[in-house]
Amino acid sequence: MIIGIPKEIMEGEKRVSVIPETVEKLVKEGNKVLVEKGAGEGSHYLDSQYLQSGAEIISDVKDLYERSELILKVKEPQFIKERNLHEVDLMHEGQYLITFLQPAAPVNHEMIKNLAKKGIIGLTLDGIPRISRAQAMDALTSMSTCAGYKGILLAANELSKFAPQIFCAVGMIPPINTLIVGVGVGGLQALATAKRLGAVVHAADIRPDASEQAKSLGAKVIDTRVPKELAVGEGGYAQALPEDVLKNEREALREVIGGMDIVFLGALVPGRKAPKLVTEDMVSLMAPGSVIVDISIDQGGNCEITEPGKIAVKHGVTIIGIKNIPGMLATSATWMFAHNVYHLLSYLIKDGKMVIDRTDDITGSILTTIDNEVVHQGAKEAMGI
Ligand code: NAI
Repeated sequence: MIIGIPKEIMEGEKRVSVIPETVEKLVKEGNKVLVEKGAGEGSHYLDSQYLQSGAEIISDVKDLYERSELILKVKEPQFIKERNLHEVDLMHEGQYLITFLQPAAPVNHEMIKNLAKKGIIGLTLDGIPRISRAQAMDALTSMSTCAGYKGILLAANELSKFAPQIFCAVGMIPPINTLIVGVGVGGLQALATAKRLGAVVHAADIRPDASEQAKSLGAKVIDTRVPKELAVGEGGYAQALPEDVLKNEREALREVIGGMDIVFLGALVPGRKAPKLVTEDMVSLMAPGSVIVDISIDQGGNCEITEPGKIAVKHGVTIIGIKNIPGMLATSATWMFAHNVYHLLSYLIKDGKMVIDRTDDITGSILTTIDNEVVHQGAKEAMGI
């Protein structure tokens, strides 16, 4: 297959979808790989390394889109200001696209409909199911790991205090208190990172398994007062909670939030809007100078006053709503992403052709557009189709 790798154009996005090592494997397996000039620069992979691995370097991205049968990207297609056109405009009928499409998010609905209209076969990485045989392809898990680690470092950097306990000639400075809400992939990594920094860690999740894991990593578990039968649904995933239960949970968090220096928010129910767990009133209970990092912002955020894509100070508390945290850890994030995508391609490409089997549980759950239609269940529901 001819596989095209455009340079990412979202502001501040330094990741790229292949590394020289995965290019070499793809080329060895009989594919042609076209890489846009400078595509890997942001994550410190050089054109010369891609060339050495067998890629062709393309200066004009239009040429790359025209020649490719499959486009691999990190972020969903964007509007290209300099050319006054959308990345979707550069694509053609029958072309495959693999990236994070976030198709259920309202902000992407028009772009998804345009992909369908153009006859593009769109496959979304956020749809990879969390089952054992898909683990090596699960780019969302990789990116959540990055967001958990870097999210805590960002928060610690904003804070005007030492994270660990410090003894000095004039006395002792106590360690900071960190609360992790939502101890899934991102939350667990955040917890481990905060612990390594020397912080005292507290954790809150509605799944007993998650609380158990948090405890084994040394966290003090906060009881969210959510009955297990309401919290856990099919496949062991968390469920969306009714408002009165969420209210109880907010009350439990309200009791402890005032003593926290860092609150890391990573609570999510797959395919749904993020639950609102921290109200403005709760933020005002926190000490001036403390920090909230809300990584669930792509799904609307867990805090009701997080500003998408921004760092804002409200009631003296710094609230981080950056949407692209893994892009700030570009080399490691790219390394993980490129390997995940390579494993997915090895699964989908058979005898040099992409095979789309809608009945397969992995392919079926990532397939977003095909035959001029939007077929992704979450996106269809969100679009009212
Ligand atoms: P996950 O599904 O592994 O974890 C979510 C956790 O939230 C689960 O343990 C679940 O039990 C818990 N949860 C659900 N409802 C809750 C409630 N009411 N109270 C407390 N806990 C609750 O998700 P993962 O992979 O860790 O992702 C977390 C978030 O991070 C997602 O929103 C994802 O899109 C986002 N993310 C953000 C990035 C960024 O740059 N901002 C990058 C990568 C991921």
